Amino acid sequence: MAPAMAISPSSSLLAASFSVILLLICSAAGTKLYAQALGNDSGTPVENIFENAETDRVTLNNIPQASSQYYGNLSSNVLIFQTSVSIACATTKVIRPPADHEPPVRTIIATPIQNGTYPVILFKHGFSLANCFYTQLFEYLASSGYIVVAPQTQLTLDSNCTEEINETAEVANWIPKSLEALLNASIPTGDVVIPDVSKLVMAGHSRGGKIAFALALGKANATEIPSFSALATLDPVDGNGPDSEFIPKMVQAGCNHTENALSIPVLILGTGYGSKHSGPLGIMPPCAPACCSHAGYFNCSSSPLIYHFVALEYGHLDFLDDSEIWTPIMCTSGTSKAPMRSFSGRLLVAFLQANLEGNEEDMEYILEKWDEDIDSVKLDEPQIYTEDTLILKGPLVSNPKSAFF
Ligand SMILES: *[C@@H]1O[C@H](CO)[C@@H](O)[C@H](O)[C@H]1NC(C)=O
Ligand SMILES: *[C@@H]1O[C@H](CO)[C@@H](O)[C@H](O)[C@H]1NC(C)=O
Ligand SMILES: *[C@@H]1O[C@H](CO)[C@@H](O)[C@H](O)[C@H]1NC(C)=O
Ligand SMILES: *[C@@H]1O[C@H](CO)[C@@H](O)[C@H](O)[C@H]1NC(C)=O
Ligand SMILES: *[C@@H]1O[C@H](CO)[C@@H](O)[C@H](O)[C@H]1NC(C)=O
Ligand SMILES: *[C@@H]1O[C@H](CO)[C@@H](O)[C@H](O)[C@H]1NC(C)=O
Ligand SMILES: *[C@@H]1O[C@H](CO)[C@@H](O)[C@H](O)[C@H]1NC(C)=O
Ligand SMILES: *[C@@H]1O[C@H](CO)[C@@H](O)[C@H](O)[C@H]1NC(C)=O
Ligand SMILES: *[C@@H]1O[C@H](CO)[C@@H](O)[C@H](O)[C@H]1NC(C)=O
Repeated sequence: MAPAMAISPSSSLLAASFSVILLLICSAAGTKLYAQALGNDSGTPVENIFENAETDRVTLNNIPQASSQYYGNLSSNVLIFQTSVSIACATTKVIRPPADHEPPVRTIIATPIQNGTYPVILFKHGFSLANCFYTQLFEYLASSGYIVVAPQTQLTLDSNCTEEINETAEVANWIPKSLEALLNASIPTGDVVIPDVSKLVMAGHSRGGKIAFALALGKANATEIPSFSALATLDPVDGNGPDSEFIPKMVQAGCNHTENALSIPVLILGTGYGSKHSGPLGIMPPCAPACCSHAGYFNCSSSPLIYHFVALEYGHLDFLDDSEIWTPIMCTSGTSKAPMRSFSGRLLVAFLQANLEGNEEDMEYILEKWDEDIDSVKLDEPQIYTEDTLILKGPLVSNPKSAFF
């Protein structure tokens, strides 16, 4: 979580040891793996599907058609696995890659398993969180036609993010070299899944959102890092206060869209409760302090197109799996994570459909209906920044790109 970000070394140590303990407790509860789409809890576990891969080509996406507007495109079966064993992700399926295609760090891959070519989302987890805490979100994205690559970086309390940026950048470099071969070796159904590395999306949650911004802004040192087609962040957090010495620092007070100049479309989804004090009696610092989170990233960034959404009644950890039951203790949370996760997946897919595939339909729908609690998630008025520094608020009935470019 983002108290990353904690105020003093001792409080960050406290927060970190707390989360390590919780992490161990949670791994006992386990991450459930269903090769079906979010929205139907009665799916078949992955292991069962492949008992007879040849004859049991199952169609698992039983989402009622009437709700397709609601849930987005859930068209493919999904395989989720990690590339080596870890304590925190003990129940997640492990598929060891061929030695010469091993990613630089342990990585979770969520992939559609249907012949096809799919864009790739590189997803960086949040502070002191495990990549397997997001499998339900990954499942949503993979079932919508995206390959998710989610590396696990080292657990660190360091406010200097250089190492984390470097580790994530190494994985970005690994994707075009080895992901296709890893998928060829991993999918047990005979389907051929080709990653379209010309459509590579940088994404992240919390401090992972900061890392995502850093990579998209070219702050990794490697010269050969692949270029990204889009940037998507979930409640990104830059630091724990206006004076915090986080490296690199990307958000400050009084920004006017001149600081972080990007050339790709950007999605920023913030939470209304992220800036609230949390924990028993409110003793924990806010997980995503107002100074240094989604609004700050929006204010400080420029790009041809930036969307800024805020889910008013959800919190910083409401993107995580249902099995992560401790999240309301660490950060103020909404009543249930499912609607927030579902909305987040849908918004991400709508954003990518609009900006990578030229299919604006669902993004237009969301921008038009934002005040009708889409997927039961109450939103603030969306903000859109475009190249000519025009900032629009409120419902838009037409495609923002064609209207304002
Ligand atoms: C979920 O899938 C099962 C298995 O196909 C089906 O029987 C059930 O009706 C579905 N539930 C919902 C809510 O769609
Ligand atoms: C859903 O996405 C897949 C993969 O991108 C695509 O082939 C399919 O046509 C889409 N289906 C709908 C109903 O949009
Ligand atoms: C941040 O970390 C990097 C790599 O460990 C190091 O080279 C750099 O000097 C650090 N920066 C500061 C200001 O400490
Ligand atoms: C993956 O498999 C497909 C189909 O067999 C093949 O065309 C492609 O070259 C393979 N890619 C790699 C990197 O092995
Ligand atoms: C997927 O592609 C492979 C290799 O081209 C082919 O053998 C297989 O029949 C295809 N599967 C389906 C379901 O189309
Ligand atoms: C890049 O290199 C500079 C100079 O060696 C160093 O200060 C900086 O921390 C490095 N950044 C990353 C992200 O590795
Ligand atoms: C990671 O850091 C190492 C050591 O400083 C450097 O050689 C390498 O180029 C960096 N990798 C990336 C992808 O930035
Ligand atoms: C925007 O910020 C920059 C740098 O902080 C400053 O130089 C510029 O005057 C500001 N522009 C406006 C219109 O406030
Ligand atoms: C972002 O900019 C708006 C409009 O200038 C301002 O009201 C708001 O306080 C700023 N927020 C942050 C966190 O900088």
